[in-house]
Amino acid sequence: MRTRVAIVGAGPAGLVLSHLLALQGIDSVVLEVRSREYVERRVRAGVLEQGSVDLLVGAGVGERLKREGMVHHGIELRFEGQGHRIPLSELTGGRAITVYGQQEVVKDLIRARLEAGGQISFEAGAVSLHDLETPAPAVRFEQGGTTHELRCDFVAGCDGFHGVCRDAVPAGGLTVFQKEYPFAWLGILAAAPPATAEIIYAYHERGFALHSMRSSQISRLYLQCRPDETLEAWPDDRIWGELQVRLGAGGGWSLTEGPILERGITTLRSFVVEPMQHGRLFLAGDAAHIVPPTGAKGMNLAIADVRVLAEALTRWYRTGEADLLEAYSATCLRRVWRAEHFSWWMTSMLHRWDGDEGIEHRLQLSQLRYVCGSKAAAMSLAENYVGLETV
Ligand code: FAD
Ligand code: PHB
Repeated sequence: MRTRVAIVGAGPAGLVLSHLLALQGIDSVVLEVRSREYVERRVRAGVLEQGSVDLLVGAGVGERLKREGMVHHGIELRFEGQGHRIPLSELTGGRAITVYGQQEVVKDLIRARLEAGGQISFEAGAVSLHDLETPAPAVRFEQGGTTHELRCDFVAGCDGFHGVCRDAVPAGGLTVFQKEYPFAWLGILAAAPPATAEIIYAYHERGFALHSMRSSQISRLYLQCRPDETLEAWPDDRIWGELQVRLGAGGGWSLTEGPILERGITTLRSFVVEPMQHGRLFLAGDAAHIVPPTGAKGMNLAIADVRVLAEALTRWYRTGEADLLEAYSATCLRRVWRAEHFSWWMTSMLHRWDGDEGIEHRLQLSQLRYVCGSKAAAMSLAENYVGLETV
């Protein structure tokens, strides 16, 4: 088997890359270890920055996104029993975010690629990468119990945090920067109409809570929990009880409850590798970096990386110039580090670090009051949240 660009992973990074390359007439093969049904059902992120929406719409895969995505012009921060609106659009010259589930983005892209005759091999897991320092690298993968080899000009490692591509870089080739947090998120998807029109981030003495949504009938909710907790410790009534208390702003507001359709626990981590490339291998998305989800940046960073990679590959195929490819890592890392900082900052401000009313608590409350009371501070949050054009 041979293709120009071998793409490992059919998440947002791999699928957007394959689509952008196809628009430039550059063929690729996407290898995905899971089934199509599995990746289309996997519930994850939900917030698209303006820049991500513009890219998807501009690339012709935004039709359903424009129809079903919910455009939000603000978010709410809740603490000390009160809600405070951050008017994102007012503070950013009219920019907005769109709430649209990651698996919907994935579904739209898979359909577009397959309808255009693009090649996505499901249940094909990459096991090893070869000859990355030569002009003809290869990906070995397993499908149907047999090992195959895909030769290519370039490998795009879009296989997420637990993939194999990052580990294919020889020892010493990458520097890892990472930080783990002493808490996790318990996330649920519920058949319950959202009790809010805009996303609510709540800081509460019992821990952080987040109220988001997927449609007028489906809520997406998260609770801070301990990283070693299991779902067995969280029966439905405990989840709803905690959400009611932590999100409750008083004044008659209450959360609408309903059947829980999906649930999971995600640990929180900040992680970056430098550089994001080695020879003919380019890492993109979660394969290269992880942010804690409090800033809603994970999927947006994945899309931003492959936009840079698609442009660099297009230039190489058109002119033979490798300058953009050589600059790939440095170009991406500027945005990545801005998002890492913003996500760390939001996480630090909104989660309970200790059980007592100590210094962290007072510092957090002071920061929250400042963000909600100062236009300059609110603007800084807003421009990062909707996504900076240049960083
Ligand atoms: P992924 O979406 O992880 O895609 C990688 C793909 O590669 C997967 O389909 C995987 O099956 C495939 N793959 C892995 N190994 C191989 C292999 N060897 N061969 C072939 N294919 C392989 N962000 C938020 O903003 N909010 C959230 O609530 C949120 N929740 C999350 C929950 C979880 C459990 C996880 C893991 C992430 C979450 N994120 C969240 C982050 C966000 O979803 C990611 O940043 C985003 O998915 C990154 O896209 P990606 O394409 O880089 O990686
Ligand atoms: C979501 O809707 O899943 C969501 C929203 C905001 C976040 C993280 C996740 O910060």
